[in-house]
Amino acid sequence: MNKLISLSLCLLSNVVYGQSDYRKAFPFAEKQTEFMLKEITHGTSTKPNPVSPRTLDDKGNLVLIPSKDWVSGFFPGELWYLYEYTHNNKWRAAAEQYTAKIEPEQFDKGTHDVGFKIYCSVGNGYRLTQKQHYKDVIIQAAKTLSTRFNPTVGTIKSWDNRKEWKYPVIIDNMMNLELLFVATKLSGDSTFYKVAVNHANTTLKNHFRPDYSSYHVIDYDPETGAVLHKQTHQGFADSSAWARGQGWGLYGYTMCYRETKNPVYLKQAEAIAAFIYNHPNLPKDKVPYWDFDAPDRPNAPRDASAAALIASALYELSTYSKNGKQYKKIADQIVHSLTKNYQAMPGGSKGFILLHSTGHKPANSEIDVPISYADYYYLEALTRQNRLANRKPVVDL
Ligand code: GLY
Repeated sequence: MNKLISLSLCLLSNVVYGQSDYRKAFPFAEKQTEFMLKEITHGTSTKPNPVSPRTLDDKGNLVLIPSKDWVSGFFPGELWYLYEYTHNNKWRAAAEQYTAKIEPEQFDKGTHDVGFKIYCSVGNGYRLTQKQHYKDVIIQAAKTLSTRFNPTVGTIKSWDNRKEWKYPVIIDNMMNLELLFVATKLSGDSTFYKVAVNHANTTLKNHFRPDYSSYHVIDYDPETGAVLHKQTHQGFADSSAWARGQGWGLYGYTMCYRETKNPVYLKQAEAIAAFIYNHPNLPKDKVPYWDFDAPDRPNAPRDASAAALIASALYELSTYSKNGKQYKKIADQIVHSLTKNYQAMPGGSKGFILLHSTGHKPANSEIDVPISYADYYYLEALTRQNRLANRKPVVDL
């Protein structure tokens, strides 16, 4: 009888605190994505050779992008997460088809985004299939990304040919390090690992403020490594806390701790987490405004992509930190809010899963829209929630 009572209490608390949202969110995501696969054939693109969905335009058309767009790897990654959850080979076939379209990016030396593009698509493909071909692509992509490392600065360069900056490094770049760490594990070549650690250390030194919020862009002198500017690109102000940037930092240092076990990275991730969840401007539902300092609160647009990214990172951090229970609870709350109030209407929004993300507010671009990286990190967060519920490691590559 006691067992029965405690089982019921456990089930009830799972429902109340949203610890099992993955059970209803995945079937919804499957339906939406089936719809999106059909809609892709009617999508629109201003660029040649479109391969992946990105967002909706002002008229509600599905916007498609070529593989060189930084967002291209997220949709194939979503297909892999659907395959992982369902074990349905139809999702594997779709994931393989869409992943193949991203592979040319393994050779693009012109951007740091090779990490986002290849790791979210091919990286997940390798994780779930162990195909030698995917392993080769990951290692080649890591070689390509490493060409952007300047040892004098101690970082990978984010963008080329920006008039206003000599050697810009954005906080988002922390995400690309995962490709490098994994490439070292797969190849035995420690060069990639060393580049990643150097980048993480330099970023930790220069990108953060005393309250552990981060600048978006640090511009370096490539000859001396001196910091020239501390600015923003997608945030409200140079001194503000752009929401997705805080998420990139949290996720980045959590992942760096996983790969190195350096306690400095764990401390950094914990401090970034505290900045986020203690912030007086974090709304009650824990889905941030696009910038923590956005001036027009409470009417400022939210960023569901930042929320999904933060939730996914907190699930992983919860398995390393003494504050684990608290992080898991916040991640569950975020996922619950997204599931309850941010999902698209069934059969709507051309098959996107979440609404209300903000891409680039200062450029007046992609404000309060569905966007594929929000869907990707939402599915990743749901996968992690499921894994934790089943006592499996949150990350397995
Ligand atoms: N990495 C670009 C962005 O977060 O919008």
